[in-house]
Amino acid sequence: MKTVISIPELRAARAELPGPVGIVPTMGYLHEGHLSLARRAREECASVVTTIFVNPTQFAPEEDLDAYPRDLERDLGLLDEVGVDLVWMPTPEVIYPENFQTWVVVEDLTQVLEGASRPTHFRGVTTVVAKLFNVVQPQKAYFGQKDAQQAVVIQRMVKDLNFPVEIVVCSIVREPDGLAMSSRNAYLDPAQRQAATVLSRSLNAAKDAFQAGERGADQLRAIVMDIVNAEPLVALEYISCAHPETLLELDGSIERALLSMAVRVGKTRLIDNLVVGG
Ligand code: PAF
Repeated sequence: MKTVISIPELRAARAELPGPVGIVPTMGYLHEGHLSLARRAREECASVVTTIFVNPTQFAPEEDLDAYPRDLERDLGLLDEVGVDLVWMPTPEVIYPENFQTWVVVEDLTQVLEGASRPTHFRGVTTVVAKLFNVVQPQKAYFGQKDAQQAVVIQRMVKDLNFPVEIVVCSIVREPDGLAMSSRNAYLDPAQRQAATVLSRSLNAAKDAFQAGERGADQLRAIVMDIVNAEPLVALEYISCAHPETLLELDGSIERALLSMAVRVGKTRLIDNLVVGG
């Protein structure tokens, strides 16, 4: 496995790789969720490139950029075990040279859900992902369903800007007790970690109700809300029952929906989601 930092080094190494090339963009501190993306890419592509870059532009000033967990040595060991060919670990200066002022913005899809409370987040994500695609020139790119809105936004960007990249969205990987894997789980103390199971518990309760015949969008949101509100260590930020592609909030009776939520457990913000109705 080769590791590179600069764009000239990356381009030279990329030129040697047989296609199709799959990219797995990450911010490091890898867990089973990331590794499942890398393994899927390994199965489907002749070459796999992983990027490790804690992208400053997707963090708001009050968010956890400096505290974001990092363990490069461990990450490289894990990627090597999966059989990744090339790891690109650019510095912020490589991605954002002095006087950088060009942004990629997906409009309506980024105003809701995560975008409503994190207004500059998706501009940072789409800009960095567009740059990673431009430099690495992959044929396939792997993202997790855990960040459901991110996957929808990137699919829109790829269509709108004609990137010749197939986006592959992989299922959420969960801990045995249901908590979705996230680098941010590392911030939780034992009591918070236990309380954090309320995300998947409440979403599953709504899914069970849907499977038992409940179709009311308000009712499904209320099921999640009541369970989260009964957990004193967890504060609900939002629970959404939205169209899985437009991300617009649904009313009345639904056939298919993305149920997604964000909570705070102490200072840690956690998200989770599931799709009901296929
Ligand atoms: O999902 C992430 O880890 C990040 O948003 C991504 C896609 C690597 C862009 O920085």
